[in-house]
Amino acid sequence: MERSQWGTRAGFILAAVGSAVGLGNIWRFPYVAYENGGGAFFIPYLFALLTAGIPILILEFTIGHKFRGSAPLSFFRLGGKKMEWLGWWAVFVSFIISCYYAVIIAWAMRYTIFSFNQAWGADTQDFLFNDFLQLTVQPGQTGGIVWGVFIPLVLVWAIALGILLAGVKKGIELANRIFIPTLVVIFLIVVIRALTLDGAAMGLDAFFKPNFEAIMDPSVWVAAYGHIFFSLSVAFAIMITYASYLPKKSDITNNAFITGFANSAFELLAGIGVFAALGFMASQQGVAVADVASAGVGLAFVVFPQIINEFPGFNGFFGALFFLSLTLAGLTSLISITETYVAGISEKFGITRNKAVAFGGGLAALISILFATQGGLYFLDVADYFINQFGVAAVGLVEVVLVVWVFRKADLLRDHANSISDIRLGGWWKFCLGIITPIVLGYMMFGLLRTNILKQFDTETGNYEGYSNMFILGSGAAVAAAAIILGILASLGAWHKSQA
Ligand code: PHE
Ligand code: NA
Repeated sequence: MERSQWGTRAGFILAAVGSAVGLGNIWRFPYVAYENGGGAFFIPYLFALLTAGIPILILEFTIGHKFRGSAPLSFFRLGGKKMEWLGWWAVFVSFIISCYYAVIIAWAMRYTIFSFNQAWGADTQDFLFNDFLQLTVQPGQTGGIVWGVFIPLVLVWAIALGILLAGVKKGIELANRIFIPTLVVIFLIVVIRALTLDGAAMGLDAFFKPNFEAIMDPSVWVAAYGHIFFSLSVAFAIMITYASYLPKKSDITNNAFITGFANSAFELLAGIGVFAALGFMASQQGVAVADVASAGVGLAFVVFPQIINEFPGFNGFFGALFFLSLTLAGLTSLISITETYVAGISEKFGITRNKAVAFGGGLAALISILFATQGGLYFLDVADYFINQFGVAAVGLVEVVLVVWVFRKADLLRDHANSISDIRLGGWWKFCLGIITPIVLGYMMFGLLRTNILKQFDTETGNYEGYSNMFILGSGAAVAAAAIILGILASLGAWHKSQA
């Protein structure tokens, strides 16, 4: 079977940018930057981008391009079974993330419609948790299906899987060619409008005000590294898979720099837009920006609806544009993350793309219903917390250590990249991958393990979000552990003879 390929270079870059630009850019970056030194955060951020983000992106692009397979197959071709498991681990991490990421996109889709008449009313928090999510059970219980989430969720999966069924060029590439430019235009309209609101300057002041003391704190550097991994979609198996569809003659390093900087530009834009809007809201309510600044679900689904309520005109229109931005940014990331297991399954078992989409995507869609139940938010919250800490960053750490130190493939990969790229990789690349990244990620993993284990025994500080030990272990730690165990198990089986 002929391997699928991107139709154009721009198509590949748009798809990679589509994966990178996601919910994280809009609801995560602005707050992470604000909390970790404001304007001064750009120093650790740029450092993490240039020493880990882009070097790993180059690494993953090179591996995918050279070995022309999904992450497990590419790693298998790089280092045999002793390397294959890592690919599956990343694939299972991606699988788990896709199950709840789809649900958040479904919320955004529903909120796009709610925007038109501000269906959330005055108490947006009460609306989100009680009316919309119907969070009426205890953490760990599921309760019934919440139809207001379930219906858009079906739509999200229908769109994502429909695009994946259409293939790499006619599906993924085409979708990104439409979604990404649309997203940029819509988001620019929202940001420009936000900048012209009363109080915008106050919000920007709060966002950019540099706190240079903060960056003396190692935790700020850890936050920068953690964010860069999540934001660039590296160590998720995604970028390897996408690069495996590049034609033989393709620039690697240039594409990686373009992808990395495009993602950062979008984050910066989001930071400006979000804080301009927060400044507006703070000035309306006569409070400080610090009192309204937040991230994640709270920012997007509680604070933004309030901002939209107070908007000086065309509320429904701007509200819908904001939630449509979230939906589009999320969809292109969901497509990329689902493609990791579609590609992995189809190669391992020698089945067609359509069957792999049906099995893999179908299973993920089915599991995602758990997050569309009355207790779904708790599961989502705890799975996200654990999988991000002990999935992505851990995969990244193991990846660089295995490639550079255990299998010693850095030179081979560098030569491959240099043979086709404009920008040549020098010693700095290997130094970043082999020394800087492992030190920072190693320090980070050690700290994370320590705090999370200590929390289990410390009755005073309590667990993450005050959840019970049982719930943390059963739904968080177990899920993160399942990804690595399933990864090892999947690597035990043989490849279908078509891949021999
Ligand atoms: N890069 C995405 C973001 O910034 C996060 C993501 C990674 C989503 C991988 C899906 C898959 O939101
Ligand atoms: Na991102």
